[in-house]
Amino acid sequence: MSTDDTPGSLDYPTEEVALTINGEDVSAEVEPRHKLSDFLRDAQGLRGVRVGCEHGVCGACTVLMDGRAVKSCLTYAVQADGTEIETVEGLADDGTLHPIQESFHEEHALQCGFCTSGFVMATKELLGENPDPSDEEIEAGLADNVCRCTGYQNIYDAVNRAADRVDGEAERVADGGDAEEDDE
Ligand code: FES
Ligand code: FES
Repeated sequence: MSTDDTPGSLDYPTEEVALTINGEDVSAEVEPRHKLSDFLRDAQGLRGVRVGCEHGVCGACTVLMDGRAVKSCLTYAVQADGTEIETVEGLADDGTLHPIQESFHEEHALQCGFCTSGFVMATKELLGENPDPSDEEIEAGLADNVCRCTGYQNIYDAVNRAADRVDGEAERVADGGDAEEDDE
């Protein structure tokens, strides 16, 4: 018995998905069993999406879906149809690091770096919902992410620094100032 493994065949049926990834419109044929993490890494080349445990425990694969942090290893690619996906690759602006990335850098909030993109994306969700979190709220907000190197304190310090930075920029904009001009 022969097996037709051509994508789209009866043996491997596919579905078309259309979504936005880091601001770019993307459409693709995916198998229903295809995980979002594999789709982002293998089909889209976004290797900042890390795959560690593959069963929802470590948080390394965290991306934002319509602004909410999801574990892409527990999400099927077909579930992302019609959504906006953001990965760590979408944060930097024309080579300038996002304030969260800059804060992780300045606080030495990583060692091997395997977990970092997941923490950064979880932090983005956290600060989007709560721009001035307490230490307890930071710990709770990052509780779905595991780091085996840092002992966490530098990560929490980085989130605090990012919160100060994001808050300061928001105040400058609210006061009618231009954040970029003020930095010069
Ligand atoms: S790889 Fe997804 S939670 Fe660990
Ligand atoms: S820096 Fe190595 S796992 Fe977090």
